[in-house]
Amino acid sequence: MKKIQSHFTEILLRWFEENGRDLPWRNTRDPYAIWLSEIILQQTRVVQGTDYWLRFMAKWPTVDDLAQASEDEVLRMWQGLGYYSRARNLHTAARQMVALGRFPDTIDDIKKLKGVGDYTAAAIGSIAFGLPAASVDGNFHRVLARYFGIDTPVNSTEGKKLFAALAQEHLPDEAPAAYNQAVMDFGATQCTPVSPKCVICPLAETCTARRMGKTTEWPVKLKTIKVQERRLTFYYVRSKGRIAIHKRGSGDIWQGLWTFPEGEHLQKSDKAKAKLIVKNFKHILTHRVLFTDFYTLDASKKPCLPSDFIWIDEKDINDYGIPRLIDLLIAEI
Ligand code: ADE
Ligand code: SF4
Repeated sequence: MKKIQSHFTEILLRWFEENGRDLPWRNTRDPYAIWLSEIILQQTRVVQGTDYWLRFMAKWPTVDDLAQASEDEVLRMWQGLGYYSRARNLHTAARQMVALGRFPDTIDDIKKLKGVGDYTAAAIGSIAFGLPAASVDGNFHRVLARYFGIDTPVNSTEGKKLFAALAQEHLPDEAPAAYNQAVMDFGATQCTPVSPKCVICPLAETCTARRMGKTTEWPVKLKTIKVQERRLTFYYVRSKGRIAIHKRGSGDIWQGLWTFPEGEHLQKSDKAKAKLIVKNFKHILTHRVLFTDFYTLDASKKPCLPSDFIWIDEKDINDYGIPRLIDLLIAEI
């Protein structure tokens, strides 16, 4: 049975036709291109993500190209986007698809791709294949909470269920791609987290938050625990124009990226000769705040380091995938 389109959906779709953003991945039906855009945009703003998407598409135009690249190459291209598990998952998923021989085309099968959860599967499924699944994220939570006047915390178990059901209820079966992308754009440019543009909003007349003066109170969120703080010390160990780096293992930040020796990797006697360059350098990751002391250590004879360290030409550091923090520290030398 055909659903009757709600007022909310009707106005939203009309708004999208007139105000939707012209983004490069919207000019294609290629599921690979759409999947790539969704992975990049998981934790990245459209303005920054667009550049990366264009560069990835230029370097690896098909899923086969990406699958044939090495993980290091992918991590290097990802540099600056942060949250590097996304890059590793991207590479793994490309190989999953090549093994499968096609792009999965149901929500359940799309969700089997590494790095793809409910939101991303619904976004890809609706945009690439027209599947009727709402991609419920912070934009949906905010727009729905305000418009329908819902004060259930969006990050509670109950809230997640309620907002998902409401988003699905208003989804037009004939236009899921437009509906999802309409909310993404409406949330990004119209019903924004701070100072929504209610004065020029086509939903203003029927919006609960607007009527009750509660746009700043909704959506309601439960307070989450404070981000962890962490202290780090890195040593730029240099000997005859060569520096020591190692690739980070699993179970810690920056898995698969290259960093310099830390306190525990060096002998006391070597550390005593090191020169302090920056103290307490603050750097923010998604779930952590890092405070780093950074030293240089120039030695004529290579100091003793664990066996996973390699010595590279100082000027070749950019050939390796390094965290943004390391880039910033190098700039201090
Ligand atoms: N954020 C996540 N996916 C998006 C898309 N397809 N368009 C715009 N913003 C997005
Ligand atoms: Fe959002 Fe304001 Fe429009 Fe309501 S009237 S949907 S709060 S922008």
